[in-house]
Amino acid sequence: MMSVSTPLELALGMPKAELHVHIEGTLEPELAFALARRNGVTLPYPDEASLQAAYDFDNLQRFLDLYYACADVLRTRADFRDLMTAYLARAAADGVIHAEIFFDPQTHTARGIPLATLLGGLEDGLVEGQLRWGISGRLILCFLRHLSEDECLACLDEAEPLLGRIHGFGLDSSERGHPPSKFARLFARCRALGKPLVAHAGEEGPPEYITEALDVLGVHRIDHGVRAVDDPEVLARLAREGVPLTVCPLSNTRLCVFREMAEHSLPRLIAAGVKVTINSDDPAYFGGYLNDNIRAVQAAFGFDAATWYRLARNSFEASFATDAEKAGWIARLDGFFRQRGALPA
Ligand code: ADE
Ligand code: ZN
Repeated sequence: MMSVSTPLELALGMPKAELHVHIEGTLEPELAFALARRNGVTLPYPDEASLQAAYDFDNLQRFLDLYYACADVLRTRADFRDLMTAYLARAAADGVIHAEIFFDPQTHTARGIPLATLLGGLEDGLVEGQLRWGISGRLILCFLRHLSEDECLACLDEAEPLLGRIHGFGLDSSERGHPPSKFARLFARCRALGKPLVAHAGEEGPPEYITEALDVLGVHRIDHGVRAVDDPEVLARLAREGVPLTVCPLSNTRLCVFREMAEHSLPRLIAAGVKVTINSDDPAYFGGYLNDNIRAVQAAFGFDAATWYRLARNSFEASFATDAEKAGWIARLDGFFRQRGALPA
């Protein structure tokens, strides 16, 4: 007799893309201490347990302070390779077949690490991930919005000779007080380079930041965007224009954007017809990788198979891959659901 898969089993096993993950946010305590020993660096915590105990954040800034401190253990090309390989191994185990991965060069170049060193290490990891697990990976360079626009322009100057190795540009770090409009000149230059663009907006910041990211920066996707529900016009616009949101449920509850998962805006975004995707953001800090996010969402909302199919399909459609790649991945997704008698009509 054919066993019938539950919606959760389908969601955990289905092929999917991850479009919002910060490579620095995949640094597990165990690897952080291993790299600290390897590089003779002292972390501000004596051991893994006390570091992990500090993962109790009440807002974005509290998390960012620790995240930047831990990134100090990343020094060599091999460190960045090991970080990437460790993430891809976990992502592959969760059914991720394509990942668009953020990196924050300014966090490292400010410490004297050359951009070519960190980029080379991340690419070494991507090659290994493709060979070992068949994962396709792309790198998105994120600018740190707590820094000045001139500092970000200098980062872009440094990146220009390496442009062929950078798939797109993004904007992250402290949102409050750093509106997208602060980076109008920077993103005008990025737009002229013809690369895909994203920005964190509407995570802690208001819905107007989502509008600015679209109208002033010209981004193609919004990272988070969960506060769009606070403004019906912004919400309707996202749905009408098919702007994808890369939503990170565990991140939002860990950083107290929502008090608990049951209060998350995800079902309201889906009901409004927004092209939502589910992602892990900084999985080492927020309690888990993509399938941990799926488990937490399913425990709160009990989505049906058709909703999970739609979320996976959105992850491919919203990716910055070629149409041929997207069609191939969607065919794999369809095959997965069809084989289990669960392909929605
Ligand atoms: N950098 C890493 N994680 C981030 C987040 N959730 N928001 C803004 N910047 C980040
Ligand atoms: Zn993020």
